[in-house]
Amino acid sequence: MAKKLWGTRFNKKTNALTDKFTSSIAFDQRLAKYDILGSIAHAKMLARQKIISQKDSSRIVKGLNSILKDVVSGKFKFDPSAEDIHSNIQELLNKKIGEPALKLHTARSRNDQVALDVRMYLKSEIDNLVEFSAQLQKAILKFALSNSKVVIPGYTHLQIAQCVLLAHHLLAYIEALERDKQRLLDAKKRIDSMPLGSCAFSGTGLGIDRDFVKKELKFAGLTANSIDSVSDRDYVIEVLADLAILSVHLSRIAEDLILWSTKEFNFIDIDFSFCTGSSIMPHKKNPDILELIRGSVGKVQGDLSSVIMLMKGLPTSYNRDMQLDKPPLFGAIDAVKDILEIFMALFANIVIEKESIAAKVKDESLFSVDIVEYLIKKGVSYRQAHDIVGRMVRDCLDKGNKISALSEKELKKYSPKLNADIKNILNAWASVNLKKSFGSTNPKLVKQQLSAWSRTL
Ligand code: ARG
Repeated sequence: MAKKLWGTRFNKKTNALTDKFTSSIAFDQRLAKYDILGSIAHAKMLARQKIISQKDSSRIVKGLNSILKDVVSGKFKFDPSAEDIHSNIQELLNKKIGEPALKLHTARSRNDQVALDVRMYLKSEIDNLVEFSAQLQKAILKFALSNSKVVIPGYTHLQIAQCVLLAHHLLAYIEALERDKQRLLDAKKRIDSMPLGSCAFSGTGLGIDRDFVKKELKFAGLTANSIDSVSDRDYVIEVLADLAILSVHLSRIAEDLILWSTKEFNFIDIDFSFCTGSSIMPHKKNPDILELIRGSVGKVQGDLSSVIMLMKGLPTSYNRDMQLDKPPLFGAIDAVKDILEIFMALFANIVIEKESIAAKVKDESLFSVDIVEYLIKKGVSYRQAHDIVGRMVRDCLDKGNKISALSEKELKKYSPKLNADIKNILNAWASVNLKKSFGSTNPKLVKQQLSAWSRTL
């Protein structure tokens, strides 16, 4: 076991089980880069404030920089016997530069150190997540643009409802992802406060300059309460909540595509390179990627619950329980990045089944609302129009007739306001063209939205 930062006060060695159970190096090694950058800023500040000598500070900074180089290049060998990443790096620095290393931890505790590391890590990961999400938006937009003329049957309650442009449906995904990005960026504003200098929880009597460290580490502000700084993990929960919402969106997109790829829907074909087969049924081409996306989203929801449960009963101030926020936080970030990455690739490998869709939009029940609105435009009340079309649809369904096959005389039986010209609106293009309201599936409006997103993304 590596040397403990606190070992001297203890009159005997810790039990091996204690070491194993309390160690976090297996997962917090991911914070190494930020831990070192934080230490470098701290060491510079200590010298500026004449708390340690310039010479010692320079040796510390030089030693840390050489460790950082190994961390960044992947050469760094983590010590599995270290208690945590903070101890691991301190111990290595001790070995590298000797005595001056012992001054680094002046006016600092692992409690504020870990808060700093996680905040720095999250600031950087939020940028990555936002970038990945933007890439997925772009992939979806590209797919929408190359299929901009396709009208599909839309569904509510998973029952066939009204015609919409496929691009309109896809733009719904882009809108949702945009809110997800904004939520993460909003969380970043609150994460962007520098906690170092809070020490264990009450601050320090040494003349530190927190503002200098804040500037060195490019934080927007300083945390204002030392207890709060080491006590709370609301920013971890906030990011997990944002990821929980984002991942629900991803799961629902996956579900749409799974449905659309079935024989029953047959809206899309996913390229073989993004499907898997069955070991027993030779005909199968399964959308396993999409199913695994849907499945891993369950894990992300669990990660959020896990940290909420972890925090809910803790007395204010630092508690070791909080060490356990990292596996769910890191796990959720990894899972969401993986999903975003494979989704980007998948969208470039989907082909629209145009003929099959064209056959499906011949279902005239898709146009019932258009006929209702036709009557309303002729002065019929909404209620009456709904009843008229209701009767017509019921009769047609009962007798297996098409509305378009009704003669003018038969139409008049339902309402004198119905003319043979309703046949002109009983098709998919007419239906989407009839929509006018802002945000609707009208092709001109959808085109405007596509152009607007092309500019934004
Ligand atoms: N590994 C710890 C964590 O993640 C670091 C802080 C330990 N602090 C302490 N007083 N033991 O929270």
